[in-house]
Amino acid sequence: MNYDEKMNAYLKMLQEATGMDEAAGSAARAGKTEEAAVKYRKAAALYATSAEYLLELMENADASDQAEYQQSIDRLIAVSAQMKELAAAVATRKGKPENTSAKGGDAKIPQEYDEEEQARFEPAAEAPQTGFGEIVGLNEAKQIVTDEIINPLIYEDVYHKFKRGNRGGLLLFGPPGGGKTMMARAIAAESHMAFFPVRCSDIVGRYFGEAEKRVRALFQAAREATNAVIFMDEAEALACRRGGNSTVMNRLVPELLSQMDGFERFSGHIIVIFATNRPYDLDPAFLRPGRLATHCYIALPDYEIRLALLKKQILSRPCEEGINIEAFARATERFSCADLVNMVEKGCLLPINREILARKQGNPEANEKLTEADLKTALKRVHPSVEMEEIHRLEKWMKQMGIAFKPAA
Ligand SMILES: Nc1ncnc2c1ncn2[C@@H]1O[C@H](COP(=O)(O)OP(=O)(O)O)[C@@H](O)[C@H]1O
Ligand SMILES: [Mg+2]
Repeated sequence: MNYDEKMNAYLKMLQEATGMDEAAGSAARAGKTEEAAVKYRKAAALYATSAEYLLELMENADASDQAEYQQSIDRLIAVSAQMKELAAAVATRKGKPENTSAKGGDAKIPQEYDEEEQARFEPAAEAPQTGFGEIVGLNEAKQIVTDEIINPLIYEDVYHKFKRGNRGGLLLFGPPGGGKTMMARAIAAESHMAFFPVRCSDIVGRYFGEAEKRVRALFQAAREATNAVIFMDEAEALACRRGGNSTVMNRLVPELLSQMDGFERFSGHIIVIFATNRPYDLDPAFLRPGRLATHCYIALPDYEIRLALLKKQILSRPCEEGINIEAFARATERFSCADLVNMVEKGCLLPINREILARKQGNPEANEKLTEADLKTALKRVHPSVEMEEIHRLEKWMKQMGIAFKPAA
């Protein structure tokens, strides 16, 4: 979904929430307590979902608007909690909990709902299969990650011998579509660790205090898996600077920090990886030694990487011979890897449609190929998704942090 679609989804959800809220109010006034309780709970869930949507929108919003987004999110979460309280209040007003419906009494409903909600969050491990081989370029990042993250796990004794301890977690940062998520999965695959991916919306729950509980549950699950990667994608949404108006974040961030500090006392291996497009929005406390000590910039692909990625993407498909891939690599400056993949995939739709059309016209043997002309058409339709401003902002941050980098052209 793009920003506008997300915004529409959010507005629709909010409208549903307020509609449900009003309906609950009228039911309560009409003395239909059971119906009112159900509707208040639905409204609570809808408001909470709206808050989640808004959180996603906030990621794409200008830095100057972040505070406003955060305030709205907090307000929605507060209203959601209020709806829940109203549901409980309406339900108990009815009288003794044992007396009514087949569900076992109105007063129980909110509690049942809580349990259901908690059960929904089960941190689940995955076992990613795609390793470094699938990632084009990023050789420097692969080397850093091998030296600092993977080998200390696999060859612990060798590191120990040279008194080179585990230095904590990893921050992958850079513009969108460069392979940060791929890299995190590859680390888990290369080191055979259980992989626990989490996003902000998995953690920020529908109830006050829920987020901290979920963070604890997540780290507990990782500890039980012994060797685990906890991967926070779009980490700036979760680990953002404290001190703002957000009560959720002001409670969540310290919990996350304390869980990360608890690693040294634990004998198994847990690696925390954060990925973000906006490292400057992270709470600086996460970047201290012992926490996310290794910082890895995943830059926009240069000519060589674009060429390698395009070759891989084009030549693995049925294509005409002699496509001038170098020319496409030259013409796609500022494209991210994801943009390049997108371009080739768009290009493929043309031969696909030609072949389908041929079949419909009674030619089952049609054997279409991706052509240079198809790719040229696709190139006209795909534009670089990363703004230079974004790159400059990242570079400015790296300068401040003393992280070495090769400036973009
Ligand atoms: N270095 C890369 N090598 C190969 N494919 C890549 C690379 N970077 C991105 N891609 C493609 O772009 C998609 C999105 O990449 P992703 O890892 O989600 O980027 P990020 O997390 O940095 O936004 C991937 O699924 C893959 O198809
Ligand atoms: Mg990603």
